[in-house]
Order: sequence, then C-alpha cells, then structure tokens
Amino acid sequence: MVMEAVAAASPSLGLGASLPSSSSIVLQLILLMVVLVFLVVQTLVPQRKSTCTAPLPPGPTPWPVVGNLPEMLLSGKPAFQWIHHVLERTGSGIACVKLGGVHVIPITCPNIACEVLKRQDTNFASRPLTFASETFSRGYMGAIMSPYGDQWRKMRRVLTSEIVCPSRHKWLHDKRADEANNLTSYVYNLAGAGSGGAAVDVRHVARHYCANVVRRLVFGTRYFGEPQPDGGPGPLEVQHVDAVFACLGLLYAFCVSDYLPWLLGLDLDGHEKMVREAIEMMTRLPDVLIDERWRQWKSGGKQGLEDFLDVLITLEDAEAKPVLTIEEVKALSQDITFAAMDNPSNAVEWALAEMVNSPDMLKKAVEEIDGVVGRDRLVQESDIPRLNYLKACIREAFRLHPVVPFNVPHVALVDATVAGYHIPKGSHVILSRIGLGRNPAVWDDPLRFNPDRHIPVDPANVTLTENDLRIISFSTGRRGCIATSLGTAMTVMLFARLLQGFSWRKPAGMAAVDLSEGRHDIFMAKPLVLHAEPRLPAHLYSATSM
Ligand code: HEM
Repeated sequence: MVMEAVAAASPSLGLGASLPSSSSIVLQLILLMVVLVFLVVQTLVPQRKSTCTAPLPPGPTPWPVVGNLPEMLLSGKPAFQWIHHVLERTGSGIACVKLGGVHVIPITCPNIACEVLKRQDTNFASRPLTFASETFSRGYMGAIMSPYGDQWRKMRRVLTSEIVCPSRHKWLHDKRADEANNLTSYVYNLAGAGSGGAAVDVRHVARHYCANVVRRLVFGTRYFGEPQPDGGPGPLEVQHVDAVFACLGLLYAFCVSDYLPWLLGLDLDGHEKMVREAIEMMTRLPDVLIDERWRQWKSGGKQGLEDFLDVLITLEDAEAKPVLTIEEVKALSQDITFAAMDNPSNAVEWALAEMVNSPDMLKKAVEEIDGVVGRDRLVQESDIPRLNYLKACIREAFRLHPVVPFNVPHVALVDATVAGYHIPKGSHVILSRIGLGRNPAVWDDPLRFNPDRHIPVDPANVTLTENDLRIISFSTGRRGCIATSLGTAMTVMLFARLLQGFSWRKPAGMAAVDLSEGRHDIFMAKPLVLHAEPRLPAHLYSATSM
C-alpha cells in the first residue's frame, strides 16, 4: 500500500533522512560544489564580524553554507541518533549543530529546558518554516505549526476558549464514554468474545481508539465509511490512521531542503512527494465532511451544535461575523487530529509491553482498578483522580518511551543567551524527549521501567503533566499543549479499559516481549501483539451506540 511505503521510508521528527542512494550521491555532490563556490566567494568578499561575546553551545565545526549536513548524511544514522551522538560527545546538556544556515540547538538538561520554555518562553515562541509543516497546516493557518504571530494567536485562542475548555470537555463526555465502551467491546470481539482469549494487536486497537475519539468529537461519527459489526475500523478508517501517522513521520524530519531552501522543488530525496501524498490521503475524507457540513450551516439546513465541527463553523465575533474561513476550519480539525492520536496510543502500547514483562507491575495496576472501580462496572473518567499507579505507569512510558525523540521545535525570535551560550535569532531549539527522560543525572537507573519513581510524597495526586521538564509530556509555556484534560482522559481511559477488561499475557512460546525500538524511529520495532482474555462479567462488554 502507498501509505505503508511512505511510513516505512519516511523519517519522523528525529527519524533522520533515509535517502535513496543515487539521490544521496547527487545531493552530496551538490553540497560539495556549493561549499567550494562559497569558499572562493568568501576569500573575495570582506566578512562582517559577530558582536556577540558568548560562545555558541558546543558542537562540530560547520562547513560553509551546508553546515554539518554532510556529516549528518554521511553518518549513516537517522538524524536524531546522530544529533544525540553529538550531545553525548559534548556532555553539556546542550549542543549546537548547523544544518545549512540554521543553528539547531538540542537540549537534554531540564534546567536548560526550563530556561528556554519557562524563563525565556517569549524568546522561543515560534516554529520552524518547513515544507511539511507548511503543507500540513495549509500555509500555517492552524495553531500547532504556525510561526509566532497573529494567525497562531487567533487559532490558539479559538482552540483554548471554544474547543478544549472545561465546558466543552463536559459537553462531549458522553461521546468519549461511548468510544471507551466501544473499545472494550471491540477488544472483547477480537479476544474471541469469552471463548478463552485470543491474540490482539494492541497498537491497532490503541491507535483506532484514539482515532475514533477524534472523529466522534470533531465530526460526530466513528466511521468515514460503513459501520463495522465488531466495532473495529473499516478500510477507510485504517487508511486514514495510516495517513495520519505517515504525516506525523514526515513532520520536522530534518529534511535537507528545509535547511537549504534553494533545493526546494528538486525533491532529491522524495520528501516533497511523500508529504503531498500523505496529506492528500489524510484530508480526503475529512474535507468532504467539512465541505458538506459547511454547506448545511450556510444554507440554513442545520441547527444545534453537536460536535467540534459545528462549533468551529458557527463561531461569530462581536459583530456576528464568522470567525473562521472554511480553510481555517479544516486546518484546526487537522491540528486536533495530529495532536490527539500518537502520544496516547504509543504510551499505552509501550506501558503494556513493559508491564507484561514485569507481571508484578501489571498485577499492581489491575489491583488498583479493582480496588477503585470493582468488577461490576466499567472504569469511567470520574475514576481517573483515584487511579494514581496507572497514571504513574503512563508517565513512565512518556519518560522512557516518548513517541518521538524531540519535542516540537521552538524557534528563537531574538538573539538570546541560554546557560551562558549564545543562541542566535532563528535557531531551532529542540528539547530531547529521550535525552531528558533518560538523563542519568536526573533519573536513577534510567533505562529501567519503574512507575514507582513517579509516586510523589502525596501518592494520591499523580498527574501526567510535568512542569519541571524532567520529562516532556504536555510541555509548558506559550507553545505548551492546550489539551491536558482531553489528553489525560484519552490516555488513562484507553489504558484503564484495556487493563480492567482483559488479562494480558505473552503469546504462547514467547519468553519475553521484545522491547526493541524501530531502526528509524522509537516506536516499538514490531506492533505489540498479546494474548487477551476477558476478565469481567460478559454483560459489561456490550457497546452502546455508534
Ligand atoms: C496525551 C496526549 C497529548 C500529549 C502528550 C500532548 C503533548 C503535546 C506537546 C509535547 C506539545 C508541544 C509543546 C511545545 O511545543 O513545547 C503539544 C502541543 C499542542 N497540543 Fe498536545 N498533546 C496531547 C494531546 C492533545 C490533544 C488531544 C489536543 C487537542 C486539541 C492537543 C493540542 C495541542 C496543540 C494545539 C498544540 C500546539 C500549541 C501551540 O503550538 O501553540 N494536544 N502537545
């Protein structure tokens, strides 16, 4: 399938450039020629000296024009691994690599991360301009990828005040509860509906639960196509989710032409084609729904708000003028789709994998649910405040197994000084989610999955947020996540329903779940497939509505 090919070949934020070899050679020859031309020009033209006294963060010496791109490409590693290798060599929790003309500043020290996102938040509140982010955001119309400015401010305000505010969260509770029930019933069907259990693909289940929640909240429907009798996705939903993950894999992918914009259009590494194909696939079906709904509202054929789409289309300003254009509505519904799917599903897949390998942890989490909820009813969002060990397990998955190596990049709006280093205006600052979460100066035995490390002095108050940036969950500051309640509800309900409804164990003959990461990313190398057996009275597994 096209999308599988895209996903396999596409680097994610931190996946690095995996170039076809002939294109790679052409690209390297071009880079070499550019360096030579630059060296000649430089000897003829007098250079302006920098007035800044602070040094740049440590890192490899860049070549003229192309910076450290040649080393990165020649390293044979995904870009994120090469950058972490540089960080290890510098040993200072911050480094500087130059990609083309851009200073890229990776950070693994929580104090420095706090300096960037808390103390100097305003200085680092923009986002990079890249081919993928421009394409995915319809020319920076949404919130997540837009550079700092009026459009970002407008769209963030719409999302925070109209979409993820507490009143809307409450308003759409029943749709989320329906999807939690559907999850329980779908896994029950996959697990043989009470016949002793069967193998279940946890990644598939987790990703489609998240996608269902998003579709229900945004479009009021679980299905783009025909409803499926077992509650699972049909081919159109599978295609859509694959396309969303393909897009996420291409976003902020350290693509060479993002740093050397004069290469744009040549598409030497095939990135531009993959980006166009992935977004076309992702938006085809939602755009049809949005066009139709827009027409209904504008022709007076619809009344009464039922979902986020209705809210966005009908928003009016003080003079009763529409706040959003149809393109902006599309950009925001894409933002919500991008934001809500990967973190919850990835965290739950990893947490379950780790805990099946450590049965005591699994037992402890299930006992907590039995203690708080019992076995006579299904876990609900109102139980979340009391499921503290469960939340600690999810936090531990965020720490050790984040969905991508780096946080969404921040761009320096001014020349700044951080930890005594000069950060030039325009630098891309990338907090390393793996570097922070696995930092041995912060975490004991950092590579061990140990949820107890998140049980605070007050064990009744574990949250998924992390204000001190020792891990990146929702991040913080001006560009921090706006949806901690929704994100927490989705992640905890997904995990809690899986643990409450089913006994999970390794498939017969498997000594331990293989916890290797992918070769080009940090997802589990293979989707997690476990044996699931229902553990509650049969009547609790029936789903309610579609
Ligand atoms: C467990 C689930 C989620 C996690 C862990 C998460 C995490 C994050 C992170 C790390 C960022 C980047 C922060 C930064 O740049 O420093 C972010 C940004 C964002 N998230 Fe979430 N998120 C989750 C769910 C959601 C959901 C459900 C929405 C739905 C509306 C959402 C909307 C956003 C938006 C709009 C931004 C961009 C904010 C901006 O650039 O101004 N997130 N999120």
